[in-house]
Amino acid sequence: MSMLKSSVGRKLTMAVTGAILVLFILGHVLGNMSIFVGPEGINAYAVHLRDLGPLLWVVRLVMLVVFVLHVWFGIQLTLENRAARPVDYQQKKNLVTTFAAKTMIISGLVLLAFVIYHVLHFTLHVGVDNVDQLAKAYMGEHFDVYTMVVTGFGKAINVLVYVAAMILLFFHVSHGFQSFLQTLGLSNECVQPKYQAVGKFLALVVSIGFISIPVLIMVGIVKL
Ligand code: HEM
Repeated sequence: MSMLKSSVGRKLTMAVTGAILVLFILGHVLGNMSIFVGPEGINAYAVHLRDLGPLLWVVRLVMLVVFVLHVWFGIQLTLENRAARPVDYQQKKNLVTTFAAKTMIISGLVLLAFVIYHVLHFTLHVGVDNVDQLAKAYMGEHFDVYTMVVTGFGKAINVLVYVAAMILLFFHVSHGFQSFLQTLGLSNECVQPKYQAVGKFLALVVSIGFISIPVLIMVGIVKL
């Protein structure tokens, strides 16, 4: 408990929870790629996930704790840093910092709002048309995730929200990756540019993977 109170302990917790969230995102983007196989792809994937039964709920609970810790400490540490330096530096020219680094709290908070919106939308089916019809539309007994996603991205506003959130995800993950290595003491001036490039690449792959879904639906390549 005292470790969670110290700022080093909280930084470490942010690094570890951030890494777990990136693993979740990688798994999620890979799983989502099954939509390109067609309705059988993503629907079968969703059925396999639900077949995990109680284990799925354990994973969901662990992920919720991980997510809450990451967001909570992120906000706390940002507020503490600001309180420790109420007046901004007069000269910032020599500080090596990037747009992604400077906007971590903003991209993080917008991603929090996005995840709430996204879970309400695709997991709890808030605002999804014809939910009753979709409930047993896959093989006569399963929820039709494919039709839900394709019709969902038939609305321009949803495409806009998702693409904007994925661009912020790119910035958040690209800086988060090197921040993780720095907190664990694995980075130095010499290797930092290399880690920066790896972080950008990882974030680009994930964001492009996610963005490809609404975009290919919007242009009609993935359709009902
Ligand atoms: C185009 C991008 C995305 C698509 C098409 C998508 C699709 C989906 C779908 C269909 C579900 C519901 C699965 C089911 O109920 O069987 C889901 C759940 C979820 N997604 Fe996404 N997702 C996207 C991006 C993201 C991103 C970027 C994040 C995190 C930052 C995320 C986090 C989640 C979470 C936390 C859940 C709830 C998992 C659960 O029900 O246990 N998603 N997503």
